[in-house]
Amino acid sequence: MTDPRLDALKQAAPALRLKTDPADLEHYGRDWTRRWTPAPLAVALPDTVEQVQAIVRWANAQGVALVPSGGRTGLSGGAVAASGELVLSLERMNKVLDFDPVDRALTVQAGIPLEAAQNAARDHGLAYPVDFASRGSCSIGGTIATNAGGIRVIHYGNTREWIAGLKVVSGSGELLELNRALIKNSSGYDLRQLMIGSEGTLGIVVEATLKLTDPPPPTNVMLLALPSFEVLMRVFAAFRERLQLEAFEFFTDVALRHVLAHGAQNPFDAAYPYYVVTEFAIGDEAREAAAMAAFEYGMEQGWIVDGAISQSDAQAAQLWRLREGITESIACYVPYKNDVSVRISAMPAFLAEAQALLGQAYPEFEVVWFGHIGDGNLHINVLKPESMAQDVFVGQCEQVTKLLAGVLQRHAGSISAEHGIGLVKKPYLESTRSAAEIALMRGLKRVFDPNGILNPGKLLDT
Ligand code: MLT
Ligand code: ZN
Repeated sequence: MTDPRLDALKQAAPALRLKTDPADLEHYGRDWTRRWTPAPLAVALPDTVEQVQAIVRWANAQGVALVPSGGRTGLSGGAVAASGELVLSLERMNKVLDFDPVDRALTVQAGIPLEAAQNAARDHGLAYPVDFASRGSCSIGGTIATNAGGIRVIHYGNTREWIAGLKVVSGSGELLELNRALIKNSSGYDLRQLMIGSEGTLGIVVEATLKLTDPPPPTNVMLLALPSFEVLMRVFAAFRERLQLEAFEFFTDVALRHVLAHGAQNPFDAAYPYYVVTEFAIGDEAREAAAMAAFEYGMEQGWIVDGAISQSDAQAAQLWRLREGITESIACYVPYKNDVSVRISAMPAFLAEAQALLGQAYPEFEVVWFGHIGDGNLHINVLKPESMAQDVFVGQCEQVTKLLAGVLQRHAGSISAEHGIGLVKKPYLESTRSAAEIALMRGLKRVFDPNGILNPGKLLDT
């Protein structure tokens, strides 16, 4: 016997695909956090905007919560459906709808994978520069929901910089066309920007017009070995001054060991405490000379203790694998992830305090540090010992996160730089946002989603 609420949904949208098999409920009900047991009512896979609107109207009438769902590569529990919600998967709405060479804009449906959008831009001789390791599986809608950052923020900025316009279904089922892909639009509140980073709590993004840019210049990739965290910031400053940086990413020896165990190749014979993968523009003699000069300067200062530079695209990919393979290489430990940021200028002082705190707090856990040092964004991953129960482990980590949130508050940082708040970071939102801001966020939620059917319990408790 089917649930009468699903019968009503079939009546409201007869052509809508629905899945209710236990394997599908499990697959679509979780994201990469793997912490909650999936338990959705069903999974809906609309093909059209009209079907999305019908689902939202049905959810209001039936009082069923909706969890908008893209590639579910999120790391904060934003796409988890563990309480009888309907998962609204955008995966069938995955097409390129339009390319305009004059506007240099690509209009896509929200379910398109990031990599497919990047490829479509490339096919037109342009680039969509938001980029990170899960590009093949994450969806554009998901990147918009979290204002995703990634490995090229240092040059190009976050997702929010690259969204010219959005079509969004609000919590009451209205279709909103936000910003009409205009470059200039000074006609009141920018609701497009409000939607970006709202984690599916204010509306369901169904279409996005992406701004495109010139293809990236020819680049080279360098791997640097460094003796301490302190010199990382100095090397960053020296490289940023001398080179056009496309990326500047760091990781520790602990991270490297995990990636190597997963099949990556180490260009160095010795082990070092810290590493940087940096990508920078080349293409003429002056730029190439500047890159060598930056490297030599770092060596002379005693900051850089070893280095390797790519001689081909294949070697560049090998060096990138050392950084991009970290998340996958530690996934089997179900890591507790911190994704924190401070202003770059606050990084040295924050780092000193955070390192002291985490060294004391986690003496017996393996802690893997990596991230986007040039954006002031650190990923601190605590690995669960195999013998420890998941809830005991998470409980201990949460105690430490409370302390870390205090350190962040003192340094005016954020508890979520790019993964979103979701379920995982919700208890610490107050460390990053004032009570007045949170009250306004709750008010906005009520305006866009009066019956609270859009991703309830994520980001905010209402
Ligand atoms: C990354 O920088 O690789 C991503 O944010 C993923 C992660 O933190 O695991
Ligand atoms: Zn990251």
